[in-house]
Amino acid sequence: MKLLLSTLIAFPTIALAGGPYSQATVIPWKPKNATSVDVSTVVNGTYYLSDRTNGIVHIVDLSTSTETGSISGFVGAHIVNGSLDKPTSGPAGMLGIPGRNELYVGDGDGSVKVIDLSTNKIVDKIQLDIKKRADEMAFDAKRNLAIVTGPDDDIASIWFISVTDRKIVGNLTFPNATNGVEKPAWNPTDGLLYLSVPETDANPGGEIDVIDPSTFKVTKILPVSECSSHGIAFGQSQQLLLACSQDSILAYNVAHTLIMNVTTGNITATINGVGGGDGVVYNPTTNYFYVADYQDQANGSKTGAPDPKLAIIDAGTGTLVQTIVTDNITAQSVAVDPTSNKLIVPIAAKGIVIYDLSNSTTPSGTPSGTPSVSGNAPAATTSSSGATRSGFVSIFALIGAAIVAGTLWV
Ligand SMILES: *[C@@H]1O[C@H](CO)[C@@H](O)[C@H](O)[C@H]1NC(C)=O
Ligand SMILES: *[C@@H]1O[C@H](CO)[C@@H](O)[C@H](O)[C@H]1NC(C)=O
Ligand SMILES: *[C@@H]1O[C@H](CO)[C@@H](O)[C@H](O)[C@H]1NC(C)=O
Ligand SMILES: *[C@@H]1O[C@H](CO)[C@@H](O)[C@H](O)[C@H]1NC(C)=O
Ligand SMILES: *[C@@H]1O[C@H](CO)[C@@H](O)[C@H](O)[C@H]1NC(C)=O
Ligand SMILES: *[C@@H]1O[C@H](CO)[C@@H](O)[C@H](O)[C@H]1NC(C)=O
Ligand SMILES: *[C@@H]1O[C@H](CO)[C@@H](O)[C@H](O)[C@H]1NC(C)=O
Ligand SMILES: *[C@@H]1O[C@H](CO)[C@@H](O)[C@H](O)[C@H]1NC(C)=O
Ligand SMILES: *[C@@H]1O[C@H](CO)[C@@H](O)[C@H](O)[C@H]1NC(C)=O
Ligand SMILES: *[C@@H]1O[C@H](CO)[C@@H](O)[C@H](O)[C@H]1NC(C)=O
Repeated sequence: MKLLLSTLIAFPTIALAGGPYSQATVIPWKPKNATSVDVSTVVNGTYYLSDRTNGIVHIVDLSTSTETGSISGFVGAHIVNGSLDKPTSGPAGMLGIPGRNELYVGDGDGSVKVIDLSTNKIVDKIQLDIKKRADEMAFDAKRNLAIVTGPDDDIASIWFISVTDRKIVGNLTFPNATNGVEKPAWNPTDGLLYLSVPETDANPGGEIDVIDPSTFKVTKILPVSECSSHGIAFGQSQQLLLACSQDSILAYNVAHTLIMNVTTGNITATINGVGGGDGVVYNPTTNYFYVADYQDQANGSKTGAPDPKLAIIDAGTGTLVQTIVTDNITAQSVAVDPTSNKLIVPIAAKGIVIYDLSNSTTPSGTPSGTPSVSGNAPAATTSSSGATRSGFVSIFALIGAAIVAGTLWV
């Protein structure tokens, strides 16, 4: 044990040097190469991705890393004056409904299409009172409600749907939101809904609105500065990660990611050098957040070159674990399987890319054959006071150290 400990101390950053994830499989696009996608999610080991270019949801079995089919019946790419109009195209946001083997998918006609996952067919359509797309979603597990945003109509709104009878039970408009609304996230700790609002007159850097899903009322507003958040995700109790968007780079010349304690609304960690984000997902198995920073720019500067990446952040310490070079076209979306820990990112020039969490690591820290994976960027620093690496990462360092020492620890 003493030897093991000293070996570990001698190689304290082995697991972090290149990062624990490496590219494993690329599933080429079909039928056409996609240039516009939206939300992705993993439901019980199966990955689903909204593809606006092809007007389908891709289905990938993560146990074999193969595309097993697709879901059709969406409005597809709506071309306006030669380019794809995101607010009227679909599919968009999606949500797996626990206990029902159903997937809700937002479409460009303001409806939510209900997919039966045993047949992968649309079995119902819930029309919201909006004209443009039904988009981001969250699930209230206490009240069995699907919460769906309508971000692109003249006044942004959210809709509460009872998943037991597929009826709209409430709605709420956001006349103060001057740049739409983004991701809603339900908090299991207090049973309330948190909504990412990128910009209001009162809070130009954005705010998180706290909503009571039993009264359909905003109960509290948590202001944020210099963020203009898009994706948000809960990690550990009361911990909310905010993916600050490219708007904050353009307005404030700052690229960063924030972690908020929603009890106080205080920012508890600022991860510098990673911004321009959209999708974000939390994996409780690794205790990592995965942020799709597809519109990041070099040096967090509005004149900086495009610097798209996927950022992996340790929720325990609020520090950057790894960055992976992606693209500024389709890499706005990120999903993780909490069972296999596989990470999935759509990349326009490649396809649907699956990254594996390696359980061993090399001393150089550079995963072989994966030039697109880089280590902790020098520019990326953190102001989090957390200093202890999570036990999870330490175990990888331990295994790595044992391998370096040429000793079998089994
Ligand atoms: C399409 O282009 C025409 C000509 O430039 C313009 O008048 C029209 O407003 C555009 N339509 C939309 C929906 O942007
Ligand atoms: C995943 O599978 C479990 C066990 O079969 C089931 O209870 C659960 O509802 C499923 N989750 C979803 C989102 O379908
Ligand atoms: C939306 O909510 C308002 C009350 O806030 C209600 O009057 C209206 O009927 C609701 N719309 C729908 C389509 O449920
Ligand atoms: C809208 O903004 C006004 C002025 O800042 C504020 O008093 C009000 O509470 C806001 N309403 C909502 C629903 O956020
Ligand atoms: C959040 O803040 C509350 C109140 O200060 C504190 O008790 C709690 O430990 C904090 N939680 C996190 C995850 O930082
Ligand atoms: C956290 O929030 C509380 C209440 O809003 C405030 O009094 C306190 O100073 C904040 N703490 C830090 C460290 O910012
Ligand atoms: C800006 O970023 C680029 C690429 O990361 C780097 O080479 C350059 O030195 C940076 N410039 C400044 C002024 O920091
Ligand atoms: C995306 O990045 C490429 C360089 O890789 C750049 O030429 C292009 O302008 C960028 N597109 C946008 C919309 O920023
Ligand atoms: C689709 O993408 C693949 C992989 O990048 C590329 O080889 C192929 O030429 C592309 N096809 C079209 C029609 O652009
Ligand atoms: C990781 O662990 C699994 C299960 O223990 C094993 O099958 C696999 O070969 C390991 N992978 C590496 C790269 O060591």
